[in-house]
Amino acid sequence: MQRHLISAADLTRDDAVLILDTAEEMARVADRPIKKLPTLRGRTVVNLFFEDSTRTRISFEAAEKRLSADVINFTAKGSSVSKGESLKDTAQTLEAMGVDAVVIRHSASGAPYRLATSGWIDAHVINAGDGTHQHPTQALLDAFTMRRRLVGPDAGLGKDLDGRRVTLVGDILHSRVARSNVDLLHTLGAEVTLVAPPTLLPVGVETWPCEVSYDLDSTLTKSDAVMLLRVQRERMNAAFFPTEREYSRRYGLDGDRMAKMPDHAIVMHPGPMVRGMEITAEVADSDRCTVVEQVTNGVSVRMAVLYLLLGGAEPAVAHPSPTTTLATRRSAPTSELRPTEEK
Ligand code: CP
Repeated sequence: MQRHLISAADLTRDDAVLILDTAEEMARVADRPIKKLPTLRGRTVVNLFFEDSTRTRISFEAAEKRLSADVINFTAKGSSVSKGESLKDTAQTLEAMGVDAVVIRHSASGAPYRLATSGWIDAHVINAGDGTHQHPTQALLDAFTMRRRLVGPDAGLGKDLDGRRVTLVGDILHSRVARSNVDLLHTLGAEVTLVAPPTLLPVGVETWPCEVSYDLDSTLTKSDAVMLLRVQRERMNAAFFPTEREYSRRYGLDGDRMAKMPDHAIVMHPGPMVRGMEITAEVADSDRCTVVEQVTNGVSVRMAVLYLLLGGAEPAVAHPSPTTTLATRRSAPTSELRPTEEK
């Protein structure tokens, strides 16, 4: 990984473990009476959202504010994008205001990569989800949640997910979460199985570093974590399965199916959930479901990513060398994690 975070596939095992370990330190800060750190004081981060979001947008904003950054929120609705302004002109307008980092969500796959490599702007770029391509901080928070639940917050430090069995179920075809998770979980040593109707699997999935199954019940019994994915109707231009009822019967997780999972196994969902389709209310509200925990962990993971890309040991350097990698940065020393005196 260079000075941007565009794809989970760009992370080495050491990069990913460093982010997860740093996120554990950030999570401890959240338990303090004063949750704010001075790390990014004087730095400006813009959240550039061209596509709807609840969890990602709010948790990036919370992470940036907890690190004392100046935060600018931009949503395409209500902006000059509706008058035809391009991504380049929008980005350069923000850069002219002295932005140090851009967190971007866009419906077009490749938009964050274009922003990071075009030379239009000098700021760090963090991908907050692009089309059906990648959502790297989602995969990191999912891995963080798995490591905490399956290994332990302290026991997990320095460790990956070697040998853990993770099943992703649902609309793989349209899912940037699935692509990011397959990449990152493979890097962290986990064994991934995708379960979906054949119509919701992408062409070329056989080249991905994972198994594919059409039988959810037999896969559940040997899973440490089962992640349900939403059927993304907004990205569909055809009928991909007969009916919602038929989809739920074959690929939905209800209480009876959850009972087939090993006792220690967890149920995950990146959100937003469609209760009654991919997951029943009984499962979504059970103690085994980590969906709310994933949101909490998202703040710690995004604080860690921002800290490692922008802050860290060299807060005075406006733009670290392009050759700086996450792996060359060390985890946050305690002195840098002292709470700010600001309230
Ligand atoms: N998981 C996720 O990306 O949710 P949002 O679309 O609400 O950000």
